[in-house]
Amino acid sequence: MINIQKGTKDMLPKDSYKWQRVREVVMELSRKYNLKEISTPVFESTELFVRSDGDSSDIVNKEMYTFTDKGNRSITLKPEGTAGVVRSFIENGLGNEILPVKLFYISPCYRYEKPQAGRLREHHQFGCEIFGANTLASDIETIMIAYDFYKAFGIEPTIHINFLGCDKCKNEYKETLRTFVEPHLPEMCEDCHKRYNVNPLRILDCKSPICKDIVKSAPKMNECLCDKCNTKFDDFKNMLTSMGIKWVHDTKLVRGLDYYTDLVFEFVDDDVTLGQNALGGGGRYDNLVESLGGKATPVIGFGIGIERILLYLENKGIEIPQKNTLDVYVASNTDNENYIIKFISSLRKKGFGVESNLMDRSLKSQFKYADKIGAKFVIAIGDDEINENKLTIKNMSTGEQIKIWSNDIEEYLEKNV
Ligand code: HAM
Repeated sequence: MINIQKGTKDMLPKDSYKWQRVREVVMELSRKYNLKEISTPVFESTELFVRSDGDSSDIVNKEMYTFTDKGNRSITLKPEGTAGVVRSFIENGLGNEILPVKLFYISPCYRYEKPQAGRLREHHQFGCEIFGANTLASDIETIMIAYDFYKAFGIEPTIHINFLGCDKCKNEYKETLRTFVEPHLPEMCEDCHKRYNVNPLRILDCKSPICKDIVKSAPKMNECLCDKCNTKFDDFKNMLTSMGIKWVHDTKLVRGLDYYTDLVFEFVDDDVTLGQNALGGGGRYDNLVESLGGKATPVIGFGIGIERILLYLENKGIEIPQKNTLDVYVASNTDNENYIIKFISSLRKKGFGVESNLMDRSLKSQFKYADKIGAKFVIAIGDDEINENKLTIKNMSTGEQIKIWSNDIEEYLEKNV
């Protein structure tokens, strides 16, 4: 037998209603927030991710699924959704339309990570990217989209926030951090040596206990912000508070991707039972469009891991309501297949969901089966019913059973389903 690949998961039919609910919530949010859907290819040129996600990111250094195609091109399966959307925004001139351009996607992402609960090699993200605006209103709206998504599933995460500053603050802070780190470099991990040169901010994010200990006493980003950045961050925090959103200022939050500028955030459940407690994350990346060859355009966005949300709900015992979607089971006990097939077809034409006896079961086991698959009504048809023009219909939740004229069936179902 050939088994599934490590770190990947089948979405089984028994769980499909959960994914359908995720899509339903996303579609409802897209209507409320006037977001338009975008879908970009699963694979792109490797260079796109190297230039977007950055040389100092674990994604680029360790986790990309990269291969050379038959045309000798270096191709990578998308490790995250943002880079492809930005490429498409530039390539299709979406910035020439009226701004802001508010986009969302549900997309698979591929990262060669060590699989564990909530950490997969193929996962899916609901992502959102708002192009063209750099205002408090656009920052808050982005947070609210994600927050409304969580709330639809009964989750109220805390938002961990940090502010990386404008280009000037960020560059000054990088130098301050380099000066602080330099004498400790010999003790630090190999990755941090690279980070020191490429993006010292990522040293704050290092998981090695020695590096973690060293940066504990490092100067904080917020101590190095200019007045304008301080005011911007304060306004954002005040607005979150007034919206009733729980937030924590995490001075070490830099996020694992190099493209972020200014505001960064992660949605976290404090008493989470899984190892991976980031239920989503994002931030501003005001320089990426320009650095990939487009017109300078500010952008803010987030990505939420769908598998991680579903696992979180399961661990917390939060149920996603499963709707009974089958309206009618047609139980037949006649050789008159012509009648049965046409009857079923007419019900489906009217829009009812119908299941029938595809397995040659006895009448009794058809009723049992209808009950098992959650049919709301069973219509039983034998030769007598066909001759009388009267069909038996049973309401499976009340057990009530009546006979009605076959011509009145559709009207009855319309009123009762
Ligand atoms: P990210 O933090 O790398 O950001 O991923 C976003 C979310 O995807 C995570 O918070 C987590 O819920 C989920 N996730 C990430 N990796 C895995 C994995 N291996 N297995 C399961 N779930 C995972 C981004 O990808 C950015 N593109 C988000 C963004 C959009 N920033 C701005 N716009």
